[in-house]
Amino acid sequence: MVSDDIKIKPLQRQKVCVIGAGMAGLASARELRREGHDVTVLEQSGDVGGQWRYDPRTDGDDPLGGAAAPVKVHSSMYASLRLISARENMGFTDFQFAPKDGRDGRRFPGHREVYLYLKDFCAAFGLMASVRLNTSVVRVALAPGPTRRWTVRSVDLGKCHGADEEEEEVFDAVVVANGHYSQPRLPSIEGMEAWRGRQVHSHSYRVAEPFRGEVVVVVGCGESGKDIAMEVRRVAKEVHLVAKSMEEVTQGLAKVLSKYSASVHLQLHVERLCEDGRVVFGDGSSVFADTIIYCTGYNYTFPFLDTEGAVTVDDNRVGPLFEHVFPPSLAPSLSFIGIPIKVFAPWFFEAQAKWVAQVLSGKRTLPSEEEMMRSVEEYYHAREMAGAPKKYTHDVSLFDTTVLTTTPVVP
Ligand SMILES: Cc1cc2nc3c(=O)[nH]c(=O)nc-3n(C[C@H](O)[C@H](O)[C@H](O)COP(=O)(O)OP(=O)(O)OC[C@H]3O[C@@H](n4cnc5c(N)ncnc54)[C@H](O)[C@@H]3O)c2cc1C
Ligand SMILES: *[C@@H]1O[C@H](CO)[C@@H](O)[C@H](O)[C@H]1NC(C)=O
Ligand SMILES: *[C@@H]1O[C@H](CO)[C@@H](O)[C@H](O)[C@H]1NC(C)=O
Repeated sequence: MVSDDIKIKPLQRQKVCVIGAGMAGLASARELRREGHDVTVLEQSGDVGGQWRYDPRTDGDDPLGGAAAPVKVHSSMYASLRLISARENMGFTDFQFAPKDGRDGRRFPGHREVYLYLKDFCAAFGLMASVRLNTSVVRVALAPGPTRRWTVRSVDLGKCHGADEEEEEVFDAVVVANGHYSQPRLPSIEGMEAWRGRQVHSHSYRVAEPFRGEVVVVVGCGESGKDIAMEVRRVAKEVHLVAKSMEEVTQGLAKVLSKYSASVHLQLHVERLCEDGRVVFGDGSSVFADTIIYCTGYNYTFPFLDTEGAVTVDDNRVGPLFEHVFPPSLAPSLSFIGIPIKVFAPWFFEAQAKWVAQVLSGKRTLPSEEEMMRSVEEYYHAREMAGAPKKYTHDVSLFDTTVLTTTPVVP
């Protein structure tokens, strides 16, 4: 563990590393720069945008073998994806996401429009000067010495393999913004390993065409599950959409489903999978299926991060994190932007980033480590009392609202 008597560098201008140039990393870069910090954003891919940079490649058809290993393709977005929130809720506070000539001007635009908006955002605030592309962070750990600083090791993926492709740099602070919609999370269902059909995760779903003429079971009824089931329905022979409970099926969807009841069947729960290709549902009925698409969400992972146990991931609870941002024992030098789910992303990230930037500059202060710890424990306790499962710790929309019976969005 980290000892208490470590000195934090006198505040003001800090040398800060941001990991990831998606929406959260870019929001961070802008706020940190605005506050006068010396910012370096390390981004593994060849461009900014993160999830919004649609990638037609996939991690393949083998989620059971592949889900444990780190994914190679970052974006999980499918070709037809459109925003679930209106564009006026999807901009930074002082950089409107306004329709532009010659672009997708719809109120709920497609994914590419968000990517282009993020590119515009970078251009407007000169952020590319701080972004180093094709640079994958492989290790982040406390640097030795009396001052609390961080060693960041990265690999230049653009370079040919040479001795000097790995670089180590020391920063005063690290902001983690690596996203959490890439690493599939799978349910455990009896018979999964031996089932003879094709099993894919929504992470690797792009278009409906590969499922033409098939009987498809879509497991999970979040945003992605619903979207994918309705899209696959158009080409598949039959689609079975599996929800955990009736509450998961919203009124609107129930109506749509009844309209397409010839091709989309609602099921509750998958009981087991049989080697011969049968999928047995909770009510004992079964169907021979060609494919199962798991729309069962994602796992948070920080494979590069070594905090000596100060921050852990347990069933999608990243913690302890004060207000989902600062690990009390390492604050403010380590922070996380974009952990909460079901938020209006850009301005939520912006608010988090502003807080981090101002705490680092000394403009704002954090409570003591003990107080932050107590706050985290109180939050966990309140969630538990409200009956929210641990894996929804970062679904802030559940807190103090009455929607506990509905299921959080699983993109
Ligand atoms: C199918 C789908 C639909 C969605 N629909 C919506 C929607 O309609 N509205 C909405 O608000 N949100 C939606 N989201 C959520 C969306 O992902 C977030 O709003 C937002 O893009 C998250 O931004 P981020 O920067 O946290 O993560 P990302 O966009 O994932 O960016 C993370 C970046 O970090 C980089 N990175 C990761 N690891 C490393 C490393 N080791 N070294 C260097 N770089 C690294 C990645 O390459 C990536 O560029 C959707 C998500 C999915 C998957
Ligand atoms: C990143 O790598 C890709 C592929 O290797 C290359 O085409 C691109 O020019 C690189 N970009 C930068 C900015 O180095
Ligand atoms: C995701 O996290 C859960 C809970 O921590 C874990 O059981 C599971 O093995 C992880 N990976 C997958 C592919 O589900």
